[in-house]
Amino acid sequence: MIKLIETVTEMRLAASLAHKLSQRIAFVPTLGALHRGHESLLREARRHGDLLVLSIFVNPTQFGPTEDLSRYPRPLEADLERARAAGVDLVFHPTSDEIYPAGYQTFVEVRELQKGLCGTSRPGHFAGVATVVLKLFHIVQPHVAFFGEKDYQQLQLIRRLVRDLELPVKIVGMPIIREPDGLALSSRNAYLAPDERQQALALSRALARTREQFSHGERDAHQLLATARAVIAESPSVRLDYLELVDAETLAPVETTLTQSAVLAVAAFVGKTRLIDNISLRA
Ligand code: PAJ
Repeated sequence: MIKLIETVTEMRLAASLAHKLSQRIAFVPTLGALHRGHESLLREARRHGDLLVLSIFVNPTQFGPTEDLSRYPRPLEADLERARAAGVDLVFHPTSDEIYPAGYQTFVEVRELQKGLCGTSRPGHFAGVATVVLKLFHIVQPHVAFFGEKDYQQLQLIRRLVRDLELPVKIVGMPIIREPDGLALSSRNAYLAPDERQQALALSRALARTREQFSHGERDAHQLLATARAVIAESPSVRLDYLELVDAETLAPVETTLTQSAVLAVAAFVGKTRLIDNISLRA
């Protein structure tokens, strides 16, 4: 039986009980509006824990003032159904006031990894992410937590946060789940009109084309980026936010020749919807 918990006190109690019983807690934090990407995390997490906890919390501190906080989809009933099917034991679904009560003012920052890529166009976003994830870890007390490579910068930042603050949780990164035509699954895909949905394929197409070139031996960063940029330019309604080739761990830009494992990361607006995607180029 799946259980819905809405308060921090009750969640901490359930976590403490699990620890007392020597149960392993596996945790998947989300904003909700669950799709097959989230489900792949949940199914893997199910195999790693005795108690599987999913959090659904549209975290206000990671949304900028002009972003989609108020219209972010919140289909709780459908989410609970998917959670049930994926074998979730506990759903932690707090209100904003529960996580950020009046007077709240403490934030954590991962100083370098929060810069660049999505950090440039979304100032404050990663401080919001790091803070809520740290707080959720304190409340849920997981042994292991699962994050998608879809949000690659977020995954690296969480790994760093855990290392820097000695948090007793293992972080597992999971591959990007895509639609059959290549589009990376995202809760924000629901915003796309049919023609925008078609244009959005430029992102995954550009990444795939570049990976092909990489697999044929191309190692020049400028060449690889030019290939991706050219594919995106074929779709005039896709407005590039960034397209960067970065070191897979430090996220520092690769300026000349690719000698290490790298990630080609892209963010673009299709209409009003901001989409991100990335692909690993392994040395
Ligand atoms: P959200 O966007 O709901 O994503 C929750 C988790 O699902 C993240 O780890 C994300 O990388 C993963 N995910 C999303 N789409 C995916 C896909 N197509 N394939 C594989 N994994 C995918 O990321 C957040 O929420 C928030 O920032 C959060 C970490 C919950 C903090 O508020």
